[in-house]
Amino acid sequence: METGFTRRRLTDREAGTVLASLRAWEPSAGCGWQLQAGDLGWALRFEPAIRDEQIRVWWDATGRCAAVILCDQPGSARCAVNPAYLHDSTLADAVLADLSRRLDRAGGGPWIDPPPGPGALTRALLAAGYEPDPDIWLHLWRPLPGAVAEPPAEPTVRAFRSADAAQRVAVQHAAFPGSSLTPERYQRLRAVPGYRAELDLVGTVDDRITAFCLAWLGPPGGTALLEPAGTHPGHRRRGHASAVIAEAFRRLARLGATGVAVLTPVSNRPAVALYRALGFTAVAERRSYWPAPP
Ligand SMILES: CC(C)(COP(=O)(O)OP(=O)(O)OC[C@H]1O[C@@H](n2cnc3c(N)ncnc32)[C@H](O)[C@@H]1OP(=O)(O)O)[C@@H](O)C(=O)NCCC(=O)NCCS
Repeated sequence: METGFTRRRLTDREAGTVLASLRAWEPSAGCGWQLQAGDLGWALRFEPAIRDEQIRVWWDATGRCAAVILCDQPGSARCAVNPAYLHDSTLADAVLADLSRRLDRAGGGPWIDPPPGPGALTRALLAAGYEPDPDIWLHLWRPLPGAVAEPPAEPTVRAFRSADAAQRVAVQHAAFPGSSLTPERYQRLRAVPGYRAELDLVGTVDDRITAFCLAWLGPPGGTALLEPAGTHPGHRRRGHASAVIAEAFRRLARLGATGVAVLTPVSNRPAVALYRALGFTAVAERRSYWPAPP
């Protein structure tokens, strides 16, 4: 039985392997449920020093990827574990010890999302005195192709172009106040393995960007992920997010995806309402675990 696990910084050369591992850990049909390749792909927009702080990758003694942890919010850690090691307490204990050190240093948390279900990491968290956080994240999923409404006359939906960078970043900030996105980071994102220009969509009115949606393919014939999607506050409730996301559905289906997933906190009511209106259903809940108050 495997016992030795090591963590080392993610190099550019290994990024493709790690993204492929995340895809391979997803079920090939039905809903994906761990941290997905698209989540990591979106995180790879950051500069190397920030990536080193945010992305923690564990390997087994044979060089297989064993776990991927994304610490992309202060004090937080979202964890995906190779299904072969979901019940491995050696790996779970090593991951938790490492995260406790890192999250203590980062402050603001800590909250840790283990893979859903009764795995070793959840058991280790409970044994270490962590409790489930009441704020639940919904994992929403819908099959592809499936029905989508006819697109409205506006916006025009098309793929992102290099000349859009400044505007696209500005609309990200309008949709997600406090966003860390910069044109340079957008440029880096476009070089991430798995980024596909035809799945990076914008909605425009008079060539001004009003909405966006970036989609990431999952395993062949499996579930894709939307990360991120948003509409400028000045254009909401006019079908702009629906129009870009519906175009993402069409393109993903043409590329062989059989489903599409998205994660959002239950507290983000507009997003939950949007995804339900687009035919998504909640297939799983993700819970974060916090240290129990003394
Ligand atoms: C969620 C968000 C993308 C919706 O964008 P939008 O362009 O306004 O959405 P649409 O106009 O396409 O809405 C389609 C349907 O979704 C539902 N919906 C969207 N926003 C809603 C809201 N605030 N309240 C209730 N229902 C809402 C409605 O059913 C709506 O249809 P209707 O307007 O005919 O009732 C937008 O509010 C946003 O950018 N929020 C901040 C970023 C964010 O949370 N992104 C998603 C993260 S996963």
